[in-house]
Amino acid sequence: MRCNEILSNIVIHQHVHKKYGGVVPELSARLHDEELLEAVNKSISTAKIKQNDIDVVSCTIGPGLINSILVGYSFSKSLAMGLDIPIIPVDHIQAHILVHFIKNANFNNSFPKFPFLSLVISGGHTQIIKVDGFFKMKVLGSTLDDALGETIDKIARKIGFSYPGGETIEMYSKYGNNKKFTFPKPLIKGLDFSFSGFKTHILKFIEEKTKKEPFFIKKNIYDICASIQKSISDILIEKINMAVLKTNINKIILSGGVSSNKEIINNFSIYAKKNNCDLFVPKKCLATDNGAMIAITGFLKYKYNMFSSNNIAPYSKYKKIYFPNLTTV
Ligand code: KG4
Ligand code: ZN
Repeated sequence: MRCNEILSNIVIHQHVHKKYGGVVPELSARLHDEELLEAVNKSISTAKIKQNDIDVVSCTIGPGLINSILVGYSFSKSLAMGLDIPIIPVDHIQAHILVHFIKNANFNNSFPKFPFLSLVISGGHTQIIKVDGFFKMKVLGSTLDDALGETIDKIARKIGFSYPGGETIEMYSKYGNNKKFTFPKPLIKGLDFSFSGFKTHILKFIEEKTKKEPFFIKKNIYDICASIQKSISDILIEKINMAVLKTNINKIILSGGVSSNKEIINNFSIYAKKNNCDLFVPKKCLATDNGAMIAITGFLKYKYNMFSSNNIAPYSKYKKIYFPNLTTV
């Protein structure tokens, strides 16, 4: 990144996990180790810069798969040490949110103004966060069990799609009747989410129907996908509506891999229009995990002198300390 402009954004996909139906943590870490140098070299050459042009290295230190994070953190520390420049550790969730401060990151091609509500829907996280400043964020609601992306991937696997299944469910949904099947919404009060019961209900529903009718999935695949997608979208809209009413904030930003789902985007656009809200949706390549979101967060911390010791311990689960109530901005 040069300030808030992307010079290169290299993403290496680890296809090996497909055959296991989900990410295998040890394999993921090993592949990070094998491919990181190539990814960094490629991003430097694509950006048409030299190593010595780099002023700061930023990397994520959590939440996420701890072994993969450790590989990235160790690599980044060595790179920063070798170039004699600072390293700035970045929170993965904050990065998903702050991606909207990259130039032309969202479909509005504009930056959201504080305060705004952020809905983070990714493979590992589901949260509604009130954002009052770049680093002044407060979690209003979280999933109490499974994350949304993880839920979608497990349901997709049951249907017979390969990992990750979110995009495939979206593709099949296009041709389906989203009212054919209805699934009970989780009964969680307030702004928290729960997807475990929802997931189990759908998995059991598919199992029972298939027992009675072996070709149930094949016959109904489009309608099953469309109905699941609609249920998910309804759950999200209901929660964001509660957050809007509770906070009186009418700016909503979406983040994370699931926010690239067009049906979800469409329903949020309809909601936003009806309720006089501004909606910010990241472009697909910036919704799913990417290096640019880590870079912009590092850049903002660098700009506002938010340096930390380079001995911070990486973490696998969401950590409150990285959402402080105070900000230097
Ligand atoms: O943000 P992300 O790239 O990684 C994490 O931080 O976890 O999100 C990955 C998740 C996966 O569960 C994937 O199935 C889901 O995002 N996803 C989608 C779509 N594209 C990716 N879910 C629904 N519809 C999509 N189009
Ligand atoms: Zn992510």
